[in-house]
This record gives sequence, structure tokens and C-alpha cells, in this order.
Amino acid sequence: MKNKPNWGVIGLGVMGTGLSRNFAKKGIHLALYNRHIEGVEENIAEKHCQKYPELETALPYEDLSLFIHAVEIPRKILLMLPAGVVIDSVLNQLTPLLSNGDIIIDGGNSHFEDTEKRVIEFAGIGIYFLGMGVSGGEEGALNGPSLMLGGDKHAYSLVSKELEIIAAKNSNGTPCCAYLGSGGAGHFVKMIHNGIEYAEMQLLAEVFELTQADPKHDLISIKKIFSKWQKTSSESYLLKVTLSVLNYTKKGHPFINLIKDEASNKGTGAWATASGAKLGNANSMMAAALYARFTSSDKVTREAMAKHFSKIKTNHAISLDALKKAYDVSRLINHHQGFEMIREASLIFGWKINLSSVALVWSEGCILKSTLMFSLIDVFKSNKKILEFSPFIREINSGMQAWEETLDSGIKHRIPLGCFSSAWNYFLAITQKQSNANLIQAQRDYFGAHGFKRTDIKNEVLHHGPWSSKKN
Ligand code: 6PG
Repeated sequence: MKNKPNWGVIGLGVMGTGLSRNFAKKGIHLALYNRHIEGVEENIAEKHCQKYPELETALPYEDLSLFIHAVEIPRKILLMLPAGVVIDSVLNQLTPLLSNGDIIIDGGNSHFEDTEKRVIEFAGIGIYFLGMGVSGGEEGALNGPSLMLGGDKHAYSLVSKELEIIAAKNSNGTPCCAYLGSGGAGHFVKMIHNGIEYAEMQLLAEVFELTQADPKHDLISIKKIFSKWQKTSSESYLLKVTLSVLNYTKKGHPFINLIKDEASNKGTGAWATASGAKLGNANSMMAAALYARFTSSDKVTREAMAKHFSKIKTNHAISLDALKKAYDVSRLINHHQGFEMIREASLIFGWKINLSSVALVWSEGCILKSTLMFSLIDVFKSNKKILEFSPFIREINSGMQAWEETLDSGIKHRIPLGCFSSAWNYFLAITQKQSNANLIQAQRDYFGAHGFKRTDIKNEVLHHGPWSSKKN
């Protein structure tokens, strides 16, 4: 009879099942728990142990107390549950069953602020709590995810061996698993991963729409373009996914044409966008990508509006070389915004996140893996921002005309390029020595007496304008 397992997994959905199978394949003994819902979820853990050979020796449970007592103290309990009330409910049931020194790992897409609170609450009762961002989808969970940990550093040292075993390994053989900082650092980094992911996906969607607008390009030529790009520094998992989905057909017709053009989302992109506003961070590309999803999902309004406004007809040629250059520089802006948001949040929350470690964890296993991401491991070792890194500065400077040409193509073809234009406008604003914000400050002080700093007075004191005497 095997010893009691040190690990238990709660929640056998797609990701929980994939990770459990991954653990088991690597020889890690497990107890498995899934809730019992009459007629909906019955004997799930038992069925998994029968269905998957690698789970044959795992211990299946539907009773939480029996499950917990089957795991060897100090217990390592991985929660793979939907964020929010479900996790709260299970944690409430778990708490009285746990022993001092047990470790809870929340592997769901929980909000980092919830994790910040949980780390403190559980520490108060002698339980370690870790927030773990998991990226890579079903395939990643089964064969090697990217794992982003936050919480108690000692607790991480107690679970890192097994997590590094199941994690993806990058081309250097390094596990894509890291302790990123205290509290909610892991879930924050995962949230920004998803924000960058939204914008990467939206950029590809805008490239796809632009190429289709030019009658010279049909789906076959678009796939050829993407295949060519995949062999260059534009390479990425998301470009590979895009190429794959475009290759599917049904009865000889492109499957993509059978999919309704209404994008949904499970919320992490919205959290990332909202966090930017809360932290005072101009994460404009992930916001643009989110808003593009919102607009697309309102198909009824779009169809009604389309009747009032004519679609332009133009044979304006779209340069594929310009499009690729614009795509590449817009990705640099997207990654710059995401990493700078992590840098700023790390300072605000005191997480001390190492951006090179973040790039390393994202260099394999996750949705954002790409040639660009792998190069960022060393870029951030130099402690430079992406927009301060000479090779990227040269790439952007040499891509300006192509970027302009691509945006012009979108205007001439009346195609909404939310992400391309957001990248462009952010770049212009962040590289502008003198902005138009002095007028904003004057307006605010005129009607709200909010004050402003003066260019001719070298201090941070706020002054007021001479408007009050002449207000009409
Ligand atoms: C990942 C993905 C994943 C994502 C879901 C839903 O890193 O594996 O980012 O965690 O949350 O695919 O994404 P949406 O927010 O687009 O629904």
C-alpha cells in the first residue's frame, strides 16, 4: 500500500484534470476531490481514476473531510476552481479541516486583491496560502503549464519541487515556474498575462481583417502570409493558433466563416484594464482589445447601425511588408505596457517582482510564449524598459512609416484598428517631450481651482491662474 499522498487536488474541471494527470505522470501521489451534484457531477474523481491510467493509484473522494484526512500533513492542497464565490465557499468548508502548516495553492484565475487578503487571513490561522497563476490552457495543464506563484516565500519552497517538475521547460530546459513575490503577485502577473494576451489576439484579428480587405488576398494567401511570419521574429504561439484555426474546413468551406463574430470573455482582461485605471497606468492596448470584444458582442446594435452608414468601397492596396512591421512594433508596445504595469504595481504593493523572471516563466507553456518573449528574459536583466532597449528603438524608428501606412490603410478601408491605433497613440504620447496637458491643467484650475505646477518656478508647489478676477 502506497504512503499517504502529500498532494491533494480539489476541482476536476478541464484544468484540474490536466494538472492532476500531469502530477501523476511525473510519479506524484495524489488524492482527488470533486464535489457531488446529483445528476450533474457524480463520482467524478472515481471516474477519472478509472479513465486515466496515470490516475489509477490516485485516491478519489467526494467527501471533503475524508479527502483532507487522506493527505499527509503538511498537506499541499491545490484548488482548481472558478474564481469568486466558489473558492470562498470551498475555503470556508476547508478551514476547519486543515492543520497548522498546511499549504493551500489557489490555481484558479482569482483576482489578486482577493489573494492578497487570503494570504493574510490564512497566515493568521497558521495555514500557508499561495496564489498561482496557471497559463497554457488544457494542453499546458496536461503537458507543462507556465506557473506564476505569489504568497509566502517559505511555503513556495515547500511546493516548488513538484511544481517545477510539472511545469513547462523552455528551450534552455528551465522550468517555467517561479515565485514572483508576496501576496497577490502571482495572480497579478497572470492577470497582466491575460491583458497582454487580449491585445496580442486583437492585433492578429486586425491583421486578419486588413489582409482580407485587399481583394488581392484570399484565405489561402493570408495563411501563406502567417506561415511566412511564423518563420521570423514575429513567431508566437498565438500566431500558430491563428494559422491553425484558419486551416480548418467543414465540407470544403473555411470553418472560420461558421463562427459568429461576437467575442466574449471570462473577466481577466476586464480586471487588467480596471487595474490600469486604479493604478494610474496607461494600459491602453489591453483596454482597446477588451472594448473591441465588448463592441463585437453587441451584434444587434452593429447590424442596426450598419444600415445608417455606408461601407466604403476602395481598392487601396495594403502592403504586407508594412503590415508586418506595424504588427511587430505594436507587439513591442503591448509587451512594454504590460511589463511596465507589473513594474509599477510591484513598487506600489512591495512585491519586488523580477521582470526577467516573469519573461522566463512566460517563455514556454503559456499563451504568450514567443520569440519576442524569450528575448525579454535578457532585456530585463539589463533592467531597461522595452522602449529603452536599443534594438527595439531601432526597430520602432525604422518601422514608423510602415506603421503610419498600415493605420492609413485602416482609415481608407474604414476598418476599426483599435489596438494598432492604441499602440500608435500611446507611443506618440509617451515619446512626446511637450504634451497638451498644460491646457488640461489650465481648464481644471479655471473651473475647479485644482492648481498646477509652473514651468518658470522650479518646485512642486501648486499655483492658480489669474482667471478669477476676469471670470465672465
Ligand atoms: C491561459 C488563458 C486562460 C484564459 C481563458 C479565458 O493563460 O491559459 O489566458 O487562463 O483565462 O482562456 O480567457 P478569456 O478571458 O478570453 O475568456
